Amino acid sequence: MNAPATPARLDNETLLRALAREPTPYTPVWLMRQAGRYLPEYNATRARAGDFLTLAKTPALATEVTLQPLERYPLDAAILFSDILTVPDAMGLGLAFAAGEGPRFTRPLRDETAIARLAAPDPARELRYVLDAVREIRSALGGRVPLIGFAGSPYTLACYMVEGSGSSDWQTLKTMLYARPDLLHRILAVTARAVTDYLNAQIEAGAQAVMLFDTWGGTLSYLGYETFSLAYTRKVIGALRKEAEGRRVPCILFTKGGGQWLEAMAASGADALGLDWTTDPRVARRRVGSQVALQGNLDPMALLAPPKAVRAEARKVLDAFGGAPGHVFNLGHGISQYTAPEAVAELVDEVRTYSTKLRGVAGA
Ligand code: CP3
Repeated sequence: MNAPATPARLDNETLLRALAREPTPYTPVWLMRQAGRYLPEYNATRARAGDFLTLAKTPALATEVTLQPLERYPLDAAILFSDILTVPDAMGLGLAFAAGEGPRFTRPLRDETAIARLAAPDPARELRYVLDAVREIRSALGGRVPLIGFAGSPYTLACYMVEGSGSSDWQTLKTMLYARPDLLHRILAVTARAVTDYLNAQIEAGAQAVMLFDTWGGTLSYLGYETFSLAYTRKVIGALRKEAEGRRVPCILFTKGGGQWLEAMAASGADALGLDWTTDPRVARRRVGSQVALQGNLDPMALLAPPKAVRAEARKVLDAFGGAPGHVFNLGHGISQYTAPEAVAELVDEVRTYSTKLRGVAGA
């Protein structure tokens, strides 16, 4: 038997504590897409790389951009710089990002033969560049803040794998869902295996928390959400490694537009739920009780307003979550590329100062 590992030094434990619903002196904050196009230094590194995929596939450059927002703002977590679509890319679908356009697959899943042949990749081989980036980022962080790893949910990945690109109505995917649910279930089963192996490999490489992005789960019907999204997410979460380096590795589940399924999501085994801005945090807390931590949920567009309004909106979100433990401040979805970097500085500062005061009140 191995002796339990001594936890690696971590200077800032607020994120992990909040995810465990333990008290923290202030509300930890990080932002979805915190390393991205609103930062001039990100655009400069991407220009040096040539394109987004080269940036994501070069560990030294992925490390550089992961750290960029942390150099500017006192954020409480780093998130691995990568993309959810690296997994289907490793499954052979051929990912491409045309400049100024969204992602595209050159070989989307359209026929039974391709779907029958689909297999989960070996992350140590086909996604080695991501695991190398995780190791390099951990070393560059030197224990400053924890590193969050991530993957897309099987359903959200299947949306892109079948449709071949983003879509406003997911017509191809929805046609398969209703006409040939057996084919979609086969894709989801293989993808759930792939996501499980990928996240466990990230955890072994050094990810200290993981997040599942179910960006399109909210486009499913009331019954379809359980069948095509949550059933597979639950399987992934149940098979994740729960501890590494002597600490729990918490899992955050984010379903955009998932506000009506919070009880079911809370029972999925996730440690925390990500909320988009359409969900009232007070209602969410009442519905999930003390089962999970909550993350969110400022409307990313609020950051386009002047500093006073940004600060006021941040306080509204903090008030709605209340001063009790178990809240991680975030946006309700990724930051807009049109955000002024100064607006993020205002936001992060307001979260720190106002939540410190709130803790005082709640603890009194
Ligand atoms: O949060 C972070 O800072 C980590 C990096 C990260 C990226 N993508 C980098 C990225 C994460 C966590 C993602 C997740 C992701 N990727 C999701 C789920 C979360 C969400 O936003 O809904 C989805 C659906 C994708 C697929 C994807 N990647 C799309 C649709 C696009 C194009 C649209 C867009 O927002 O630009 C991307 C490209 C992408 N992924 C960029 C970044 C920084 C912009 C690409 C560029 O630099 O040109």
